[in-house]
Amino acid sequence: MVRTIDKPLCVLLIEDVEDDAQLVLLELGRGGYQVEWLRVDTPAAMAAALAADKQWDVVISDFSLKGFTALDAIRLVRDRQLDIPFIIVSGTIDEERAIEALRMGARDFMSKSRLARLVPAVGRELQDAAVRADRRRAEQANAAALAETRSIHDQLDALLNCAPSLVLAVDRAGRIQFVNQVLPHLSKQEVIGGDWLLYIAPEEHAQMTARLRSVVETGQALTYETSTLTPDGGRLWYSSHMGAVRHGDAIVGAVIVANDVTETRVAQMEAAAAQRLAAIGTLAAGIAHEINTPVQFVGDSLEFLRTAAHDLLQAFAKFQVVHRLVQRDGAARPLPAELTQAIDEAARAEEDADIHYLRENVPGALERCKEGLGRVTAIVNAMKEFSHPAHREMAPVDLNRAIQNTLTVARGEYKYVADLETDLGDLPPVVCHVNEINQVVLNLVVNAAHAIGDVVGHSEARGRITVRTRSDGEHVVISVADTGAGIPPAIRERIFTPFFTTKDVGKGTGQGLALAWNVIKERHRGELTFETEVGRGTTFFVRLPRATAAVAA
Ligand SMILES: Nc1ncnc2c1ncn2[C@@H]1O[C@H](COP(=O)(O)OP(=O)(O)OP(=O)(O)O)[C@@H](O)[C@H]1O
Ligand SMILES: [Mg+2]
Repeated sequence: MVRTIDKPLCVLLIEDVEDDAQLVLLELGRGGYQVEWLRVDTPAAMAAALAADKQWDVVISDFSLKGFTALDAIRLVRDRQLDIPFIIVSGTIDEERAIEALRMGARDFMSKSRLARLVPAVGRELQDAAVRADRRRAEQANAAALAETRSIHDQLDALLNCAPSLVLAVDRAGRIQFVNQVLPHLSKQEVIGGDWLLYIAPEEHAQMTARLRSVVETGQALTYETSTLTPDGGRLWYSSHMGAVRHGDAIVGAVIVANDVTETRVAQMEAAAAQRLAAIGTLAAGIAHEINTPVQFVGDSLEFLRTAAHDLLQAFAKFQVVHRLVQRDGAARPLPAELTQAIDEAARAEEDADIHYLRENVPGALERCKEGLGRVTAIVNAMKEFSHPAHREMAPVDLNRAIQNTLTVARGEYKYVADLETDLGDLPPVVCHVNEINQVVLNLVVNAAHAIGDVVGHSEARGRITVRTRSDGEHVVISVADTGAGIPPAIRERIFTPFFTTKDVGKGTGQGLALAWNVIKERHRGELTFETEVGRGTTFFVRLPRATAAVAA
């Protein structure tokens, strides 16, 4: 007979009859096992055997021992959470107890008289146990991998949560997979899984969709700037980077890292607005200067013409007297033909020129020219002063005069819809950046004119803008009141927010009050407040300290 090499087998025998134990060992030996074994017949001995540093392949147990049964033995194995196949080899088989033993974890049950089943049963159990061990190892490896993934995930989460940038991952369809920050009124749960376009300004939708498509189709990253609306009507700017997210070879979505650059952006826009105003100011000052010279010589010539016309008309009157006298004389005695002809021609010319009419109207016309030119001069001077070249230092200023200049310049903005009333009190000189204050007053007057324009529309009705100044201790107060529609409660908190506007594109950019706020609060340490009543109108109050501590320009 060809014998294969014996397979080693470590057996724990629970048996109090030595002969029976030998029978089992014999059977195993016949089955090709090289058996290493230990026989125990008390719970204590069995417990010691299980605790020993020994890898038991199988437990083979009699059913009833003295004061000890296979059920107790199974329990001992189970309590130690050991996965050792447990086979009962018993003299008699009581079906009920067999079932109970199987239920408790015994793997097989056979009669001592049918030991032929033992070897196949052991073989099968060893195989099953090996499969179970493999599975356990795999599960442990999985659990370890999962724990590691979780820990990496937690670390990444912590890292991303305190990152100053917004990190957003979306799938190919733009559904949000991950986000590290959300606006205060949202929670991550409600954002994740939703469409990313919900959080992007509508006018940017098409462009953002195109960017996502480009990234997931080409895999090439993009850098761009975008903006989004906040619920209070403000706008946030982001400088963003979008890159592909890969899974193996496939691009499954994109990750966007966005940095909030609103502050820089607003500062840039304010600087640009200020520069634009300064440029307009310089231009206006230049034009005013250019107009000034011709206005002066037109004025001088006009004055000359006025006196000349007066003198000429007077001299002419004298000639008319002579004319009449000579005419009368001509009736008495004949005059030389030449003289008669000259007198007739003079009479015709006098009639053609309507000398009477000229005498009546020329002085008035010249007077009106003088008055008109006076107005032009006033406007040119106001323009010159309004657009005073920018001073970096604050200087004491007569604010009433500055306001009058501003109102002269702003006339075109309100004259079709409102009458202007001024009530300018005695003011001490105020230390300020006068061009900036001019800009603030101009913005307030333009806003007032727009508010009135909205109410009166194209009707004949007119509103009223009232500009007042008064001194109040160490402060001066400028107020601009209008009879417009007032500011609705829902937007009162937002009007100073940069770029908040209720006006159509082209009419307002929402920078006027933000700029005013900056000038009054930040640069002059003053206050900018308003009172408003829907249907009645609005009054803005600028409160300035007479002497502002110099604020960095
Ligand atoms: N006197 C006013 N009466 C009613 N609403 C006003 C008045 N002044 C401002 N508002 C409201 O506040 C908003 C913001 O004003 P702001 O001056 O900042 O911007 P704008 O006038 O819309 O645009 P811009 O001044 O840049 O041309 C206006 O759009 C308007 O809704
Ligand atoms: Mg405005």
